[in-house]
Amino acid sequence: MAIHPGPADHRLLGLLCSLRPRLFRNLLLLLWTLLSCDLRGTAQGPGEWTPWGSWSRCSSSCGRGVSVRSRRCVRLPGEEPCWGDSHEYRVCQLPDCPPGAKPFRDLQCALYNGHPVLGSQKTYQWVPFHGAPNLCDLNCLAEGHAFYHSFGRVLDGTPCTPGAQGLCIAGRCLSAGCDGLLGSGAVEDRCGLCGGANDSCLFVQRVFRDAGAFAGYWNVTLIPEGARHIRVAQSSHNHLALVARDGRYVINGDGVLSPPGTYEVAGTRVVYTRGVGPEETLQASGPTSQELLLQVLLREPNPGVHFEFWLPRERYGPFQSQAQALGWPLRQPQPREVEPQPAETPVVPEAIPARVASLTPDPCGPCPDSRGRAHRLLHFCGSDFVFQARVLGRHRQAQETRYEVRILLIYKNRSPLRTREYVWAPGHCPCPSLAPHREYLLAARRLVSPDGTQDRLLLPHAGYARLWSPAEESRVLLAARRCPV
Ligand SMILES: *[C@@H]1O[C@H](CO)[C@@H](O)[C@H](O)[C@H]1NC(C)=O
Ligand SMILES: *[C@@H]1O[C@H](CO)[C@@H](O)[C@H](O)[C@H]1NC(C)=O
Repeated sequence: MAIHPGPADHRLLGLLCSLRPRLFRNLLLLLWTLLSCDLRGTAQGPGEWTPWGSWSRCSSSCGRGVSVRSRRCVRLPGEEPCWGDSHEYRVCQLPDCPPGAKPFRDLQCALYNGHPVLGSQKTYQWVPFHGAPNLCDLNCLAEGHAFYHSFGRVLDGTPCTPGAQGLCIAGRCLSAGCDGLLGSGAVEDRCGLCGGANDSCLFVQRVFRDAGAFAGYWNVTLIPEGARHIRVAQSSHNHLALVARDGRYVINGDGVLSPPGTYEVAGTRVVYTRGVGPEETLQASGPTSQELLLQVLLREPNPGVHFEFWLPRERYGPFQSQAQALGWPLRQPQPREVEPQPAETPVVPEAIPARVASLTPDPCGPCPDSRGRAHRLLHFCGSDFVFQARVLGRHRQAQETRYEVRILLIYKNRSPLRTREYVWAPGHCPCPSLAPHREYLLAARRLVSPDGTQDRLLLPHAGYARLWSPAEESRVLLAARRCPV
């Protein structure tokens, strides 16, 4: 509540403001006075709302209706009107109307039955007419005649059209937000929180790209209980498979392909599609009531299984450690000598040819030299992460290059790092460039997309990445002590 000076205060302020500054004993008082005089001279902002009154009774006597509550704006002289609405409407739901009960809009039209309207003594029987432009006008058709008349607005709480969700309020068709308030526009965020900002859960988005050289089922990821907005996609002759907590296959189990469709599992509906592309997707809105295991049934080398979901924050840690216990066996390149698992290769027993190591020459030219103490210092101090990492793999895309790295030692981090991370670099041929299977000292930035869905480690162009050596490490440690705080 803002404090507004009363008349007595005004007099005091006037007195103080008219005094000469030299009379003041200290600067503080002068300042206070200046501020007060200034405050008095400008607009005083909006008034204050009274607390909300209580909700009215439901507008209908059965089925859906609205109830309303209101508040008043209390304004002192000179204050602006209050900000916000003076009325709030919410949907109220009473037991269903008995069959055959006359709908609310029909009742409103019927009020004009037998009464002379339209300036003549002729009377009509009126029934609702739904073909007129404004759904929230009381448009009624004269029964047996080819005209309708608009009797102004319908009463608040009248459904905009029969069976639809929207309700008319003051002549406008409004639908209820997730907070139950009509016209609030409130929607559930990705975490299932009404009006939330996606910040009570975390977005997991990964690509399971690598797998060993044999056909059969491969674990892709666990999808923990509580996951929402699950999406999985892959484009190859491989098949996605989903396993319930009790070990039962929900989709594509035991080498038998399931038909595309909707499958109920873990308290949610999983929609499975299979195109001729070939491509497959799984989607579920969740939240899942129990853990699910996502697998891929390999029949050919895996070009990548994309998966994403939103997890309650508290489930992220356990998920992460489970993923690590699974070794992300599947997120990182498998050693070639993985033993085939005969029990798990029901569909296509033929082995997948081991991936051929790339023999094509590196299409990217050498990078300009960017050594020097100043460069190191600049990047050490200006980045969010500095760490020693081994490059496990490199994936070049059109616009960017993705390195998968194993983090060996952390010198600086602004937020937790996992043992395995993706480091992204701009361009198809980034500089500095990292070679697979080598160890580096790296300075990376954290890049979060504006919508919060992508949280990445970025190795900027001309950033800091040097092959690890004891000498370079001690220079990094030295740089650490030189950053301005
Ligand atoms: C939450 O995330 C979804 C999906 O990324 C996005 O469409 C939505 O705008 C986000 N909501 C807020 C409040 O940021
Ligand atoms: C796949 O994950 C399940 C569940 O965590 C586990 O029991 C099974 O051993 C895993 N299989 C492989 C091949 O890693």
